[in-house]
Amino acid sequence: MSKIEKRYDWMLDEVKSAGRENLDANHASQYDFKEDASVMEELALMKRLGLNGRSEVVDIGAGTGQFTLAVASVCARVVAVDVSPVMLEVLKAKISASRLLNVEVVQSGFLTYEHQGRQADFVYSRYALHHLPDFWKVLALQRLRHIVRTGGLLRLWDVVYNFNPLEAKDRLDAWCATLSDNPEDGWTRADLEEHIRDEHSTFAWLLEPMIERSSFHIENVVYSPDGIFARYVARAI
Ligand SMILES: C[S@@+](CC[C@H](N)C(=O)[O-])C[C@H]1O[C@@H](n2cnc3c(N)ncnc32)[C@H](O)[C@@H]1O
Repeated sequence: MSKIEKRYDWMLDEVKSAGRENLDANHASQYDFKEDASVMEELALMKRLGLNGRSEVVDIGAGTGQFTLAVASVCARVVAVDVSPVMLEVLKAKISASRLLNVEVVQSGFLTYEHQGRQADFVYSRYALHHLPDFWKVLALQRLRHIVRTGGLLRLWDVVYNFNPLEAKDRLDAWCATLSDNPEDGWTRADLEEHIRDEHSTFAWLLEPMIERSSFHIENVVYSPDGIFARYVARAI
């Protein structure tokens, strides 16, 4: 099911902003080899936060659905939302090969997804919100707030810069230096450079007021020691 429609002429094109590699079928087919989304740890966390067999979950920016498939085995319903047809093709193939009957796949985005049915108990999003510039992140977060019920949770994990802007060059150089130039190793230094240059990761001190302004209360945040990643648990209030 595809539900991407550009409602206004001034609206951001979510497909064009989805990231070059995410629209590349070759990248999509390699994604699960390159990326381990730590789904067992994420699932354990979400169970501690109340996820159970009655829970409804929306995974937005689901990609190839590593988290979608893991959570589907323990919850009532999961909707996987992504703008990229090629990422969703990989996910659909995995669903077909599984016995899971409680997964819905919707080709749509943060700014366009219309949730059907009762409000979700959890909204999950990993490594996707940074595809939107900050103005659009706020609109996206406000839309996520309508997807999740009051008292429900947003789990947001993304590339979020948690350092003094004066340290930006040193911190980002150090991040890029963690990877090689060899594509056979998986992600490359060029991928990180492209992320910094062309995508919209923002500072934690900018993102956090956006989350709170969207009627979520941040209950927990874990920053990576290098200041490059942040993982939030935020409750819908
Ligand atoms: C790096 S992948 C992350 C996939 C998965 N969440 C994971 O952690 O492995 C980023 C995903 O975000 C999707 N994406 C980019 N912009 C989006 C938008 N505006 N709405 C929904 N998904 C988007 C991309 O198509 C891609 O599948």
